[in-house]
Amino acid sequence: MGLRILSGVQPSGDIHLGNYFGAIKQHIEYQDLAGAEPYYFIADFHAMTTVQNAAQMRQNVEQVALDYLALGLDPQRSVFFRQSDVPEVTELAWMLGCVTGMGLLERAHSYKDKLAKGIKASVGLFYYPVLMAADILIYKANLVPVGQDQVQHVEMTQDMAQSFNHAFSCEALVRPEAKLNESAKVPGVDGEKMSKSYGNSIPLTLEGKELKKRVMSIKTDSTPVEAPKNPDTCNVFALYKLVASPEEASALAERYKAGGMGYGDAKNALLEKLDEFFQPYRETRKDLARNMDYVNKVLADGAARARQVARQTLDECKKASGLG
Ligand code: ADP
Ligand code: TRP
Repeated sequence: MGLRILSGVQPSGDIHLGNYFGAIKQHIEYQDLAGAEPYYFIADFHAMTTVQNAAQMRQNVEQVALDYLALGLDPQRSVFFRQSDVPEVTELAWMLGCVTGMGLLERAHSYKDKLAKGIKASVGLFYYPVLMAADILIYKANLVPVGQDQVQHVEMTQDMAQSFNHAFSCEALVRPEAKLNESAKVPGVDGEKMSKSYGNSIPLTLEGKELKKRVMSIKTDSTPVEAPKNPDTCNVFALYKLVASPEEASALAERYKAGGMGYGDAKNALLEKLDEFFQPYRETRKDLARNMDYVNKVLADGAARARQVARQTLDECKKASGLG
């Protein structure tokens, strides 16, 4: 077996620049790594903790599928599927829950953060890390590329794997390692971390007038046009760097430092690069959207492949624990 890489993305809203440069770009790049077996799934069971409207859920899942495929996910090289199409994962989650102490889950940061924000916790929200552990362990993933906020969940997964193997004197579950996504925090239009939930994001599907409006709304300081400016503290430049070549980025940095350039010019330069960078994605995405049968077939084929692996692991776990 090669290096099995797995990650999940929640279908909870529009994919934005932060999601792309912070996660998806790296997911796609793993396809080129020799010996890698990438598994990526749309975590609809997890999204159910917040998305509780059928039409919305279906639409979100469709959007994420279109985004991943248009951004370069290749169904020949990656197993791409919808989490709920592999119901075995919920069986394993139950089994893991039985060897997991309440204390472990009570210590979960993301759960505590949500409680602190006054979000009323469902049993599902509390149980979320157990399902996530099952996602990872059922495919015997070696490497789990995630953002900082998910690292603790992968550590909890390591604990659960060990508890299960120990309780049933088996080696059915493989210890996964978290791989922290490389890109630093991508700023939103207000300079805070770009996030679906802060209303400060630049969704990848935005184009034309709407994209222009969003780019023009990026927060900048009040340095006058004539004065030299610092590219390293500018939100516009931080985004420009992501979509421009290194040469283009240093050329723009020089213009910042020389003075005589207003932020409006920098925003126009950013807009131009965004259009250039994402043009192929936009076109592919529109083609795919007209061909949802193909997209659904990709997900169905992916689920069939994923399910085979999942069934095997589940059988091992059942056997080890005397079930079935
Ligand atoms: P959001 O905050 O928009 O809800 P998620 O929490 O669903 O995003 O994140 C999905 C993935 O995208 C994670 O791996 C996360 O680390 C990455 N990501 C999200 N926002 C950013 C950002 N502003 N900069 C870098 N990476 C990000
Ligand atoms: N909880 C992850 C997030 O919100 C999504 C997810 C679900 C996941 N299951 C996973 C990520 C398994 C990695 C591995 O971003």
